[in-house]
Amino acid sequence: MIKQLQKKGLAEQGKKNLALAERNMKALMALRNQYKKTKPFKGQRIGMALHITKETGVLVRTFMDAGAKVSIASCNPLSTQDDVAAALIKDGADVWGYKGESKKDYYKYLKKVLDFKPTITIDDGCDLVTEIHLNRRGLLKNIIGGCEETTTGIIRLKAMEKEGKLEYPVIAVNDNDTKHLMDNYYGTGQSTIDGILRASNMLIAGKTVVVAGYGSCGKGFALRSKGMGAKVIVTEVDPFRALQAKMDGFDVMPMEKAAPFGDLFLTVTGNCEVIRMEHFRRMKDGAIVANSGHFDIEVDVTGLTKMSKKKVAVRPFFDEFVISANKSIFVIAEGRLANLAAAEGHPSEVMSMSFCGQFLAVDFLVKNASKLSAGVHFLPSSVDEKISKLQLQAMGVKIDKLTDKQKNYLGSWQEGT
Ligand code: ADE
Repeated sequence: MIKQLQKKGLAEQGKKNLALAERNMKALMALRNQYKKTKPFKGQRIGMALHITKETGVLVRTFMDAGAKVSIASCNPLSTQDDVAAALIKDGADVWGYKGESKKDYYKYLKKVLDFKPTITIDDGCDLVTEIHLNRRGLLKNIIGGCEETTTGIIRLKAMEKEGKLEYPVIAVNDNDTKHLMDNYYGTGQSTIDGILRASNMLIAGKTVVVAGYGSCGKGFALRSKGMGAKVIVTEVDPFRALQAKMDGFDVMPMEKAAPFGDLFLTVTGNCEVIRMEHFRRMKDGAIVANSGHFDIEVDVTGLTKMSKKKVAVRPFFDEFVISANKSIFVIAEGRLANLAAAEGHPSEVMSMSFCGQFLAVDFLVKNASKLSAGVHFLPSSVDEKISKLQLQAMGVKIDKLTDKQKNYLGSWQEGT
């Protein structure tokens, strides 16, 4: 076992955090209670590269209760919750990751998951799929399919598919409405604020917040920043999203123009070099820069390091880059996912819906894999409907039913004005 996970009391703390998450992940627990009776995933070996959080822990336990064996590595060197990892090992899962692991360990642990010979892969960012297709092709014959959790991973998968390089079916779980319109929007909005506040303890009210990217994550973060009293500027490359941001009441401008105004900058674009040296040069003293996009490529921290006289680790996940006697720029969590590195990721309630999606995607693969071609697939809308019902039930919310007359009306075309 990894030595960082052997500390006394760690697994006990993890057990408590897992119990807390289970209490708040009622929809996923409902699936667990249903599937543990028949154990339909018996014989499946699920290899995962996900953030090892208490919420992921609940998913791992749910897969194991449904009969699967699980091996998991982290999909980010800074996001592992060591207590949860230690508790999952006690539960019988094969767990590879610790908070602050080196790049070398990161890849070593991905390989450990591949040594486990998965029949199904679950990625958050597509690293397992990439590693299998590039370096472990012998595993392909046993893999029935995969699932992908995040926008960045889907972009990579679609690029593989376009080049004819993707050799098994992968479900784009991110594209479930109950994932990207909930987790990305409400989850990233709140957990990113959480990470920024834990790292910096800044006041949001009265500040100017610059959000790069107006997808679901950017929308959620912009709305929450506004709700806390910030003035929000959005930067975009997509004309429709820029228009949406403008119509939502935010200022929209290029990053070059926004740079001098921002007190806080957040990148959530999924692209590289969104905040570059020319932008740092225009920022004011004390500006804080954070990223909640999947990879640490959105903020050019290497460029900032080159421009700086020194770097001071002010507090955990909060570094000051001293550019001159009267100008410093602060970076949260080295430009890695602020919400998972400096905080605990999205709260359990929202992850419950995302992970119902992962669970039902695996169910879909187990039932349909032989009919699916290699490539990116989407779950039928009935799965979103099922997850929505489970979550509404968990929240004690009841809704209306169509009357027979309404059903007939929706199925007819003769009736007009
Ligand atoms: N991604 C964002 N938040 C997460 C969480 N709490 N667990 C797993 N993956 C996440």
